[in-house]
Amino acid sequence: EKEYKIVILGAGGVGKSSITLQLVQNKFIEDQYDPTIEDIFKKELFFQNNYYSLNILDTAGQSEYSQLRENYMKLGQGFLFVYSIESRTSFLELLSHYQQLLRAKNFPQEKSEKALNQSIPIVVVGNKSDLDYEREVTYDEGINIAKNFGDFPFLETSAKSNINILKAFEILIKQIDSN
Ligand code: GTP
Ligand code: MG
Repeated sequence: EKEYKIVILGAGGVGKSSITLQLVQNKFIEDQYDPTIEDIFKKELFFQNNYYSLNILDTAGQSEYSQLRENYMKLGQGFLFVYSIESRTSFLELLSHYQQLLRAKNFPQEKSEKALNQSIPIVVVGNKSDLDYEREVTYDEGINIAKNFGDFPFLETSAKSNINILKAFEILIKQIDSN
């Protein structure tokens, strides 16, 4: 069994807790927004002939808690970077989280160091894909931000409709495995 520490990052209200809840308990709670400070979950997965035990840290998107971030960024082995497809602000916020992560891992900030950056396992996720009619961020923009950060995998998810949630974690596990 492999034990991995996974950290879910992203702006407030993008659906980090909903993604985690959907993965861990197969539940979605509509219209109930309860901002997270910090929650830890455990999930056992059998995937590609291996048992994985995931320790998932569901973090605070609200900026009041941003000081907490540095520490768990240091400890995390894989990161889910989440924005909401119906919030351009949340999309733009990914960059500062990414830069904070590079600092926490003592990596250079320059774009030319892309290859090096890739050694941090990251999957970029555009959540709330069920809200296509309120979309503010295109699929291609999602692909591109993941590519510019460091050729990371990208996918759109819906915690509400349970689309691509398990897949996002499986792709992240693959990233960590190949690291
Ligand atoms: P913080 O803990 O403050 O950082 O927020 P969060 O990223 O954990 O967001 P949370 O999961 O609490 O979701 C915020 C709101 O968005 C809630 O009302 C959810 O029901 C809703 N939501 C989350 N995911 C989805 C989704 O995939 N589709 C839709 N339509 N709503 C979603
Ligand atoms: Mg939350």
